[in-house]
Order: sequence, then C-alpha cells, then structure tokens
Amino acid sequence: MPVLQSLQLRCYNRTMADFKVNDIIEEICQLSKDDSGEISRLAFTDSWMRAHTYLKQFFEKLKFKTFVDQAGNLHGQTGGSGEVVLTGSHVDTVRNGGKYDGLYGVVGSALAVFRLLNKHGMPKKTLEVIAFSEEEGSRFPFSFWGSKNLVGGVDWNLISALKDQNGESFAPALERQGFIYTQDCARRNDISAYVELHIEQGGVLEKNNMEIGLVTSIVGQKRFIVEVFGEANHAGTTPMTYRKDSAYTSAAIISEIIKRAREHGPPMVLTVGQIEFRPNVSNVVPAYAQFSVDIRHTDTDILNRFTDEVLEFVNKTAREKDTTCQTRITVDDKPVYMDDGIMEIISNACQSRKVKYMKMPSGAGHDGQHISKLAAVGMIFVPSKKGISHSPMEFTEASQLELGIDILEETLYKLAY
Ligand code: HGY
Ligand code: MN
Ligand code: MN
Repeated sequence: MPVLQSLQLRCYNRTMADFKVNDIIEEICQLSKDDSGEISRLAFTDSWMRAHTYLKQFFEKLKFKTFVDQAGNLHGQTGGSGEVVLTGSHVDTVRNGGKYDGLYGVVGSALAVFRLLNKHGMPKKTLEVIAFSEEEGSRFPFSFWGSKNLVGGVDWNLISALKDQNGESFAPALERQGFIYTQDCARRNDISAYVELHIEQGGVLEKNNMEIGLVTSIVGQKRFIVEVFGEANHAGTTPMTYRKDSAYTSAAIISEIIKRAREHGPPMVLTVGQIEFRPNVSNVVPAYAQFSVDIRHTDTDILNRFTDEVLEFVNKTAREKDTTCQTRITVDDKPVYMDDGIMEIISNACQSRKVKYMKMPSGAGHDGQHISKLAAVGMIFVPSKKGISHSPMEFTEASQLELGIDILEETLYKLAY
C-alpha cells in the first residue's frame, strides 16, 4: 500500500480527542520527505503535494468545508456569518528544513478550531483555517506567494516565468499539480482578523524561560540577487592581474557586507544563503557568479538606508575588480505591527492560564505581514529548542506545542463566538 494511503489510515483511526498535534506533524513529515530523506517540502514538488493532499483529507475528517484556490492555498471553513476569522500558516518548507516551521501553525490551527466546534458549536463568524501554499521563497525567487494571493495585486505575468534552480518555471510547476492559474488574484474583503500560531525560530523565549511569545511586530526584509559577470579563463596560465574573476569580486562583496551588518549590531541581520559559480569547475576562472542577499531590520528607514549602502558597495566593488554586476530585488517587505486588540486578547488568555509570556518582535517573516493589508493580525509563538530553525535540528516540546494551541483556541473563541 503506498505510504500516503497507510499513513492516512493511521490518522483516521483516531477519535477526535486522540488528535495530538505531534502525531499529525510526524505523519505529514514522514510522507513528505524527499528522496534523500530530508524534509524539503519546496512549493509544488511531489513531497509538497503529498502533504497538501493529506491536510485536505485531514481538514475533511475534522468536518471543515474545504476548497483549494488557484494559488494552491488549502482552505477549511466552518459555519457562521460572512465575516471571516482566519487562522493557519504555510505548508512549504526550506530545503532540508525542520518539522514545525509553518506546519505546526496549520495543524495547530485546525485542532484549535476543531476543539472550539466540539465545545461551543458553530461560531457567529466564519472560522477559516488556511494552509498557505508557498511562503519561504526557497524554490522560486519570490516569497509569500500563498498569502499575497489573498491580498490581491500579484502580477501573474511576472511570476509565471520565474525559474527554480533546475530551470523549471513557476507556471508549469503549479499546473503539474493541477492548479490552473487563470487571472491575477482578487483581494479577499471578508477577513476581519488573522491569528497565526508559529514556532519562534529563535532563542529568546528559551533564554528567558518563557512559555509563549506575544508578537508585537514582524521584521521588514529586503532580499535580492547579485549577478557578477567576469571572464572564464585558464586557472593555470592566466596571471592573477589579468583576470576578470567573478569569484574574487563576490568574495570581496560578501565578506564586507556581512562585516558591516555585524558592526551595525542587532536587530540588523544580513545573510548570503545561496551562491553559484559558472561554469563551476575547479580549473576555470569563473565567468559568472550569482548570490542571494537577505537583509532585515525592524525599522524601515534604517533597512532602506543600509540596503542602499550595500547596493552601492556591490556596484563599486564589481567595477574596481574589472567585472560588471546586476542586482534584482526579489522581496521588499516593510516591518508590520500586530493589532493591539488581538494582542490584548492573547495577553488575557495567557494571564487567565497563568502562562509565562513576553512581548517580542519576530525576526522571521510571516504570512501575517501580507494579511495585515486587509485584516487585523496577531501572532503567538512557542519556544524553539536552542533557538534553532530552518534545520532538521528544529524542535519544540509536545507540551509547548499543545499550550500554543490552547492560547490560540481561547483567542479565536474571543474573536469568532
Ligand atoms: O525566512 C523567513 O523569515 C521565514 O522563515 N519565511
Ligand atoms: Mn514560517
Ligand atoms: Mn521559514
């Protein structure tokens, strides 16, 4: 029996009280490992599709009315009025990622809504659980595809031609999984609030011995691709001073911009996560280099100024080293502040349970950044062991996962009943 089928049976043998968030996460992670056994649910790959399919059937098992939109977002709705209280997170992961980033929020939200329905019956407003199809930007140079599709204004012509590292374009990757994207997405105007449950992905809660993080803001981020153009030449016969060496230019840029971010101090962060040389052979001076830059800060002006300085340095260094360069912005998201009213509800839910919680900004980007353009947004964090995330070492205790769901359940109750 194919893996997916047998795993479904295990999940479906449970009564509603038996659904434990950890079990469901484990099952989905098991079936969504890639050929190398890593958790790499890159958007619209087969491992992603197995998780998407499992979640759709899981939502139906919980008696949600499910539908999938043209962007591949999975929705699970319950009764109530036209006004929607949305909750959920993203189902895609980074390459060789952890079990909880995104998926915990999707499964935890479904369980919180399921438990509310069973305790209190139908809510006054519609409760909707969403599994955003793509958030990470780990496959295509574009991120938050899923949540941006609820906000409207995604330029399909621009996005459909983007290619992943294997040269596959966005549109065929979507179509291969059965999603036919017919027109630019329409803005949802029925969502009044969005609450996302997520692991912290940092070490602040653990260091302060806190159980819950009450998110105050989500960091702004700018991501861009730098392309450096040099000249291929022989590694042995080309004197160093004759070279147009894209590796030399890239190394000088990368080392200097990371140094500047370190000197700037927190909360400024800068990451070069991806790099590629061409022709990428050891005895050829690389003619071409491409690398990613990801810069984040909680203050828009500081983020903009620092990014401008980095871009100026990139161009200057390429010229000085007898190469040329091009830069292409792929993510440009302003910092976003959480809604005071929802923060107060979350704070009261923690206080009534005597839960140790603290207010904190999010250094990671989240779908709430985009949904805040059309609804009030709040976020609830649970601790990440040793602050590790975007890694197979990502871990959160089952009891902490369950506490996060309890706080979300109380928050959704106050918003929707
Ligand atoms: O990269 C991030 O901030 C998030 O994990 N997408
Ligand atoms: Mn995430
Ligand atoms: Mn992530």
